[in-house]
Amino acid sequence: MTQTLLQTEALTGRFGGHVAVDAVSFSFHVGELTAIVWPNGAVKTTYFNLIISGQIPASAGTVKLMVEDITRLGAAERCLRGLGGAFQLTNLFPGLSVLENVRLVIQSRPHKGFGLFSMEDSHPELTIAAKSILECVRPDRRQDQLVSELSCGDQRKLEVALLIGFDPMVYMFDEPTAVMSVDETPVILDLIAEIKVDRERTVLLIEHKLDLIRSLADRIIVCTTARRPQMGLLRR
Ligand SMILES: Nc1ncnc2c1ncn2[C@@H]1O[C@H](COP(=O)(O)OP(=O)(O)O)[C@@H](O)[C@H]1O
Ligand SMILES: [Mg+2]
Repeated sequence: MTQTLLQTEALTGRFGGHVAVDAVSFSFHVGELTAIVWPNGAVKTTYFNLIISGQIPASAGTVKLMVEDITRLGAAERCLRGLGGAFQLTNLFPGLSVLENVRLVIQSRPHKGFGLFSMEDSHPELTIAAKSILECVRPDRRQDQLVSELSCGDQRKLEVALLIGFDPMVYMFDEPTAVMSVDETPVILDLIAEIKVDRERTVLLIEHKLDLIRSLADRIIVCTTARRPQMGLLRR
């Protein structure tokens, strides 16, 4: 039986007189990957921001996480409740290594009892966990490399690693493969598919490459000719 984790009900984002997100209602379920493939400028990122960041206030409608109405909460409070987005994590620590960045985010998992400033020696299991995530995301790459030295594509991969390290209940990816090469793209999309299967998480993915997501997505939201997006059920 599908269990709804996240829901938007008539969610509306207005900028002055301009209605950008127009009463959008969707439910997102545990263990399902929903892909969103509206065209460019079709307010996908704005819809994500209304759900996840709280920086743009909803003009109307609600965002619910399980039974809780989180529409008026700020980004930090939403994050603590289990919403996580790869696009939020562009504030990497450039002066720290790749491994240190992932380790820090694992330390910051809510309610796990690790202090953010606990020393590496006192929790070697965090380093082991960080290494194993990186071995999936960036195989054959140096884990001691400084983040400031990474290419854009590698920074996007690190964002995915950080999100896996944080392990939220809802993973939101806004075009995670945007600056990746043709070779790298399937690697990241496979990883995202594994999150859904292995961790029983809810995954929302904005992705242009329809041919790639067809095999991953349980449901696809598309924008047809009208402004209102439509939910399509995918048959494998
Ligand atoms: N701060 C803002 N002020 C006015 N309009 C905005 C604002 N933020 C988003 N929009 C609206 O959202 C559109 C771009 O949406 P966006 O979410 O970036 O699209 P997508 O991610 O689908 O490419 C703009 O054309 C505009 O209509
Ligand atoms: Mg966008």
